[in-house]
Amino acid sequence: MCTIINLKKISDPRGNLTYIEGKSDIPFEIKRVYYLYDVPGGSVRGGHAHKDLHQMIIAMSGSFDITVDDGNKRFTYHMNRSYYGLYIPNMMWREIDNFSSGSVCLVLASEIYTEDDYYRDYNLFKSLVNES
Ligand code: TYD
Repeated sequence: MCTIINLKKISDPRGNLTYIEGKSDIPFEIKRVYYLYDVPGGSVRGGHAHKDLHQMIIAMSGSFDITVDDGNKRFTYHMNRSYYGLYIPNMMWREIDNFSSGSVCLVLASEIYTEDDYYRDYNLFKSLVNES
């Protein structure tokens, strides 16, 4: 199940600070970090699910929408705060769109990159979820 994780925020008149420790602030050890930036208006990212990998996605700057789909139900989260992370477990289809200009999408991942972990065909993903 996807959940919004409210990250710890150390408020300070000099500027706020948020930290993330694997396995304590989020439910997995962080093996990889990547980020989307310079995203042209109208772009759609994602469009896949992962067999094993778990992720957390944060709008470090600006905003975007994440639509998640478990093969039966869809839900869209509007991400616009750098202290909220959307936790996405494995076997969850996701699409990211509606990027504001200058937005930065940070992704914390539980595994290193391997293309074998991706389902990029929605119909295949949906049929696998519904047969298990
Ligand atoms: P992809 O995961 O499809 O991007 P998104 O879901 O954000 O739209 O990855 C796009 C390309 O980048 C694809 O060719 C694989 C490559 N890639 C890596 O080499 N390493 C990585 O860690 C990631 C996330 C992608």
